[in-house]
Amino acid sequence: MEEWIEKIKNAVSLEELDKIRVAIFGKKGILASEFAKLKNLPNDIKPKVAKELNEFKEKINRVLNEKKAALEKEEIEKALKAEKIDLSLYSPAGIKGAIHPVRDTMDRIIEYFIHMNFSIQTGPLVEDDFHNFEALNLPKHHPARDMQDTFYFKDDMLLRTHTSPVQIRTMQNTKPPIRMISPGAVFRRDFDLTHTPMFHQVEGLLVDEKGAVSFANLKFLLQDFLTYMFGDVEVRFRPSFFPFTEPSAEVDISCIFCEGEGCRVCSQTGWLEVLGCGMVDPNVFKAVGYDNVSGYAFGLGVERFAMLIHKIPDLRSLFEGDLRLLEQFR
Ligand code: DAH
Repeated sequence: MEEWIEKIKNAVSLEELDKIRVAIFGKKGILASEFAKLKNLPNDIKPKVAKELNEFKEKINRVLNEKKAALEKEEIEKALKAEKIDLSLYSPAGIKGAIHPVRDTMDRIIEYFIHMNFSIQTGPLVEDDFHNFEALNLPKHHPARDMQDTFYFKDDMLLRTHTSPVQIRTMQNTKPPIRMISPGAVFRRDFDLTHTPMFHQVEGLLVDEKGAVSFANLKFLLQDFLTYMFGDVEVRFRPSFFPFTEPSAEVDISCIFCEGEGCRVCSQTGWLEVLGCGMVDPNVFKAVGYDNVSGYAFGLGVERFAMLIHKIPDLRSLFEGDLRLLEQFR
């Protein structure tokens, strides 16, 4: 009988254990045949053998149950181990994401101005007419409003057409001096090779005491900034018009595709327009109640910078989410 106890103890699986159980307790098992033999035994030893058989039955039952519990525990642990997910495991086969080129360009621009001690300001995307136009010296029915095709809501509300309204909000909330940039999304009714209805701008504003800020300061800053963004390029300031600045200028860099020779991208001019800027118009200061100050402002399109830096021909492709384009920025 002891050999059965050994067999149970050596079983390696629940399946094997069950076979042993059947061999002992089954209809044709050894217990059944041993009990059957009892009736042929002489009466004086019958009770003794029967007692022994019952004791064996009890013992083997106990050993079986113990072994069963042990094997079940083992199997659960095995399954847990096999199904364990190692979250720290490096998977070279996985598809990795990348920073979107517009975000990446925005980050580089912000990085520059943070180093120049400008603060970052934000404003609402749904603006009112006052902050988007009126306070920026763009009165109602002024023809310059046509420069920006606007999405209107009811009640003089609109999707901001530029980040310039954040200038106004910042001046309304703070006393001069001010050094700020405002990065963010803007919206215009426009859609072609170089325009999308939503795009991003960075607005800049610096205000200090009257006479403390000059156009030369502005020129130095933007020249340095454009060198940081585009490397060794030539920078030129061209007289222009914006309602919120006087004098105003547009800023060009020498074409980074043909190095100024003249090509399709720069329309054979050798120059690429990248910025608008100027000295803050006195009417803007008047609108926010500023007195005895001077300042400069500038604004740029982030997608245009991204297109030029990465030589992307169609601006719309930046918003299509096509992996064939995005994969190149990993
Ligand atoms: N807000 C202008 C635009 O969206 C960009 C701009 C031009 C901003 C000149 C300025 C500036 O602050 O001085 O076209």
